[in-house]
Amino acid sequence: MHFKINGQTYVADVDIRTSILDLCREHLGLTGAKKGCDHGQCGACTVLIDGRRVNSCLTLAVMHQDDEITTIEGLGQIGDLHPLQEAFVRHDGYQCGYCTPGQICSAVGMLDEVAKGWPSHVSSDLAAPLFDDAEISERMSGNLCRCAAYPNIVDAIREVAQAAPEDRTADEKDAAMIKEVMA
Ligand code: FES
Ligand code: FES
Repeated sequence: MHFKINGQTYVADVDIRTSILDLCREHLGLTGAKKGCDHGQCGACTVLIDGRRVNSCLTLAVMHQDDEITTIEGLGQIGDLHPLQEAFVRHDGYQCGYCTPGQICSAVGMLDEVAKGWPSHVSSDLAAPLFDDAEISERMSGNLCRCAAYPNIVDAIREVAQAAPEDRTADEKDAAMIKEVMA
């Protein structure tokens, strides 16, 4: 089977029951996504598949041969961090760091969801959800942090959200945010 992960093509001969999480961690050496519960309950394994956040422990690799998969390794590198990675560092948004890769991948996905106008359970205006703290907390509620770094995680995400005008596309926002961080 062949997979597109972080812009690279990988070939792996794996059992059809292999999850994306196990494919990355056990077969391809991409250990950024973490295995917390392996049951879809903690969000530590979150990756982006075709731009949408997914619990990689719950989806089979065989289902995603033609999809664009992005793990935390594909979002930023040392010396060239993603704006959310920078913000998590600035706001001390992690303690042990185990949940952090999933938190950041999930935050990338949720910012895109809000920018597209998709409402959540707490959106007061279903046509135009805000980047407020209630919205961030609700949308990030699938990502658990046992160290309880939640206030700082919200601070980090809010900062990046506010730096990104809502009328830009996700790619334009990413490019603009990276430019600001690197300036
Ligand atoms: S390891 Fe996938 S949700 Fe916990
Ligand atoms: S920083 Fe430790 S679980 Fe979140």
